[in-house]
Parts: sequence; structure tokens; C-alpha cells
Amino acid sequence: MSKRDDALIAAAISAMPHAYAPYSKFHVGAAICDEHGQIHRGVNVENAAYPQGACAEAGAIAAMVMAGGRNITAVAVAGGGDLLCTPCGGCRQRLREFGGPEMPIIICGPDGERARYSLAELLPHSFGPDNLDQ
Ligand code: THU
Repeated sequence: MSKRDDALIAAAISAMPHAYAPYSKFHVGAAICDEHGQIHRGVNVENAAYPQGACAEAGAIAAMVMAGGRNITAVAVAGGGDLLCTPCGGCRQRLREFGGPEMPIIICGPDGERARYSLAELLPHSFGPDNLDQ
């Protein structure tokens, strides 16, 4: 495991307590590394009007874009429970906007890495910016 991955995993786990999840009580932290080597964090932010809640990955992407990052080199997502906290379908597509098929997605629990996938494994045959670039 690389130094970058260690930092990314620690960043995702450290974000978890900042989640605003009064309804599900499921705290998620996400961390993404951009092309400058900068790490951006996000948490899930729920809402009394349930569908308006936002995933942790969406917050991390917004932070990256605000800071000038446009390419994701790796992602870590940290959640509790016994099952793997893999990104939801919508977030797989959100991540696709800023990363290619090889982008590593590291799935973590509160104690560290549990699994890792490429974007292509989680979102095969994806539709991305290249599809519109002709
Ligand atoms: N959630 C995330 O933030 N990211 C994921 O990858 C999976 C799910 C959040 C959304 C909601 O606030 C809570 O987890 C339960 O679904």
C-alpha cells in the first residue's frame, strides 16, 4: 500500500464523525486525491426531506472542484456496519466524471481498508465525458 493510499484512508476515516446523519445514523466519510496530490474530504449530509440528502462522495467532489482539482487519482470511502460501504450507483457515476476506469476505490471500515476495486469493476462500460467529446 502506498503513502498516498495510507493518507487517503486516514482522511476518509477521520471525516466519518463529521457526518450529518440524524436519520440513517450511518456515518460515511469520503476522501479523494486529485492530480496535484491534494486530498479532499466529504461526509454525508442528510435532510428531513429525505431525497435531498447528499452522499459523502458528492461533498468530497465539490471540495475538490472548489480547490481547482479536476482529475481524481484515487478514492477512499469509509462507513460502519459489517458490509462493505461501496459507493451508491449515483456516486459511481459522479466519480466517473473525474476519473477513468483504472481509478482505485478503496472501501474502508472504521479500522482501515476492507476491499479495493477499480472504477471499471464498480461501473463497467460507463458513460463519461469522452462520450460527448467527438
Ligand atoms: N451514503 C454515502 O454517503 N455514501 C455511500 O457511498 C453510500 C451511502 C450515505 C447516504 C445516506 O446518508 C446514508 O449513507 C445511508 O444511506
